[in-house]
This record gives sequence, C-alpha cells and structure tokens, in this order.
Amino acid sequence: MKIGVVGGGQLGRMLGLAGIPLGFQFRFFEPSSDCPAAALGEIIRAPYDDPDGLERFARDLSCATYEFENVPAETAHWLDERLSLAPSPKALAVAQDRIVEKAAFRDLGIPVQATASITSAADIVTAVRAVALPAVLKTRRLGYDGKGQRVLRASSAVACNADAVALVQSAWDELGRVPCILESFVTFTAEVSQIAVRSRRRAHAADIAFYPLTQNEHRSGILFKSSSPAPCDPTGELAAQAQAYVARLMESLDYVGVIAVEFFVTTGGLIANEMAPRVHNSGHWTIDGSVTSQFENHLRAVAGLSLGSTASRGASVMINLVGRAPIVARLLEVPHAHVHLYGKGARAGRKLGHVTLIAPMAQDLVDPAAQIELLAAWNLPSH
Ligand SMILES: Nc1ncnc2c1ncn2[C@@H]1O[C@H](COP(=O)(O)OP(=O)(O)O)[C@@H](O)[C@H]1O
Ligand SMILES: [Mg+2]
Repeated sequence: MKIGVVGGGQLGRMLGLAGIPLGFQFRFFEPSSDCPAAALGEIIRAPYDDPDGLERFARDLSCATYEFENVPAETAHWLDERLSLAPSPKALAVAQDRIVEKAAFRDLGIPVQATASITSAADIVTAVRAVALPAVLKTRRLGYDGKGQRVLRASSAVACNADAVALVQSAWDELGRVPCILESFVTFTAEVSQIAVRSRRRAHAADIAFYPLTQNEHRSGILFKSSSPAPCDPTGELAAQAQAYVARLMESLDYVGVIAVEFFVTTGGLIANEMAPRVHNSGHWTIDGSVTSQFENHLRAVAGLSLGSTASRGASVMINLVGRAPIVARLLEVPHAHVHLYGKGARAGRKLGHVTLIAPMAQDLVDPAAQIELLAAWNLPSH
C-alpha cells in the first residue's frame, strides 16, 4: 500500500522509516527541494495549494495523512473528497486556530486558562479586562516552536489597566496585527503531553491506545527534553485525567491517527495548552522506548490496521539537537544513547535531530542525560 504524506520534514522521514518494514511505500507532497523525507519515497515537489501538484500527489493513493498542521484547509478538503485523509479536515481546522482549539477544549469540559480574541485594535481593551497580566499574546495561526508569541509580564511599570493595554498593543503591533489570542500566563509546576492513537476499526476493542504520560521541558519555546514515565506523576493520577480528556476529544472529532495534547500541570490540576493532529516531538522517544512507536501506530491507524502495543520497554529520556551540527561519535559514547538525525543543514533554532536514552530504570538515565545535554549545546537565534 502506498501512503501519501503532506509534508516532507523530519516527521515525514520518521513515518517513512517506521512504515517501510511493514511494506508501505510513501509519496510525500513537499514544496522544498532536499527535504528530510526525500530518501524514504517519491516526492511531489509543488506548493501545498498547487492543483496540478495535488492531482499528481493523489493519483492512485487510497489514503493520506499529513506531518504538519498548516496544511491549507482547501488542500485538506480536496484530498478528503478523493481519498481517505486522516486525521480529518475537521481535526486539522481545530488545531490550526488557537481560538477554535481553546473553544473545543472548553466545550468538552477540558480546563483551559482565561483567553480572549484580538482581531482589531478595538478588541484590546476588552481582552485585557478578560485576561489580566501576566499573559501571553499568540498569533491564532501558524505559530510553532514558540514563534509568533510574546510574554507580557505584569511588572511594577504596568501600574494600571491603561499601561497593560499599551503593552498588549505594542506586542500586537510586533506580531504584525494579525488575529491573535491573549491567554493568561499559567504558573505551572510541569508541562506534560499525552500522546494517543485511535484506529479506524471502531468495532475493534483496542480502538484507542495511550502512551504513558510524557513530561516536557522547553527552552525558548522549543522542546528541549521529554521524559517518560513523567517524574511529576508518580501515582498516575495526572495520566488518568489526561487520558480521559484526550479520549473525549478524540471521540468528539471521530479522530483517526496519533494525536498529542500538551497540558500545564498546576496546583489546581491539568490545563490544556494545545493539540497537534499528528505525530509529535514529545513522542519521539517511542521509536526506541515503546513496543510500537507513535510513527508505526499512526500508519497502522491511517491504513485501517490493528494498533500495536503502546507499552514501554523501560524508562526513556529524549533530548533535541537544535541549531548546531552534533558530533555523532561523541553522542554515541554516552551509555544508552540512540541517535536520530534528520539530514538537515545546521541553522540557529532548527531541530536537526534527537537522542533517546533508554534503560530499565529512570535513575540509570540521570548521568547520561546530563552528558547529552552538554553535548547538545543548542544554538538559538540571537534576539
Ligand atoms: N499561557 C502560557 N502560560 C505559560 N507558559 C506558556 C503559555 N503558553 C505557552 N507557554 C510556554 O511556551 C511554550 C510554547 O507554547 P505553545 O503554546 O505550546 O506554542 P507552540 O505551538 O509554539 O508549541 C509552552 O510549551 C510553554 O512552555
Ligand atoms: Mg506547543
């Protein structure tokens, strides 16, 4: 079976790496030359909304998926009418707009922080009244890895509401006056993500499967490190809550494929941050650390096959390699290290690969993780 993947980045590459042993072939739809997925299948090189490119991509495919959430809505609908696209255009639409996403969470009783929409300068006063500082202003669409966001702190300089309005106004100007969401800044004790998969075979008992909750640490808005099992959830109480929320979300969207939902852990419980309708960076550890990786399970779900076990092979820690070409030989000197490179050129702030450490016990990974953190030596843009 040939599977179409919109996008040819590292997630496409890892889908290909997981699917080839199962006999799948791949066709990627990707505008840029020299993409990470190029070695794994056929590439249709065209802009994402190019009708001729879409025709060539969809020809003789029975199913397709995508590896990033900024697929144009018209492209998703066009594909959905011709073949089986999973996750659905509806799931994609929810994830593409932070206002719609937060509303979907709220409607399902999944806790979110206070939010307000800003589409014109006139909305700012009402938004500041609804969401006090400190807050985060984010573009509704197209943000990733902390891009398109401004954190607005309630310093002593922000003495009154008028100062807060001026602060939001200047942040909104900086973001280009595009439609934005203003969110309360959440004082969290940890960040976690729940990765789950739902298959097309609704009659099948193992309809939804959950990976263990993952704890995530970000630097400059970019995922730095993921640990599973999550050290912040020794009793499994948070996992049970996260899984109940994600099950509700998947059922409501009649979801097919892997989903990732990010949560803030607060003293009052979980607060949902965002969802990704795709395989997710915080699930990369599952390649080495799970019986069936998130990539393989996504393909199984999209192709209508049985899901594989999401049980762990031990404790895992994943560390991203960002901005600076890693010295692989050094990384491989570290015990328990598995290196994954994406075949991308080094550029500040760019995800170039990751290292997963896996061992029977979490305590075996403390020293190796510290060594990998040093070797990773991130290079971020200077601003
Ligand atoms: N409202 C918030 N309060 C506190 N921290 C936040 C908030 N929103 C985002 N962050 C921080 O920024 C990171 C990236 O933001 P996120 O909304 O997940 O956007 P992205 O799409 O870039 O991943 C989060 O993982 C968290 O560390
Ligand atoms: Mg995020």
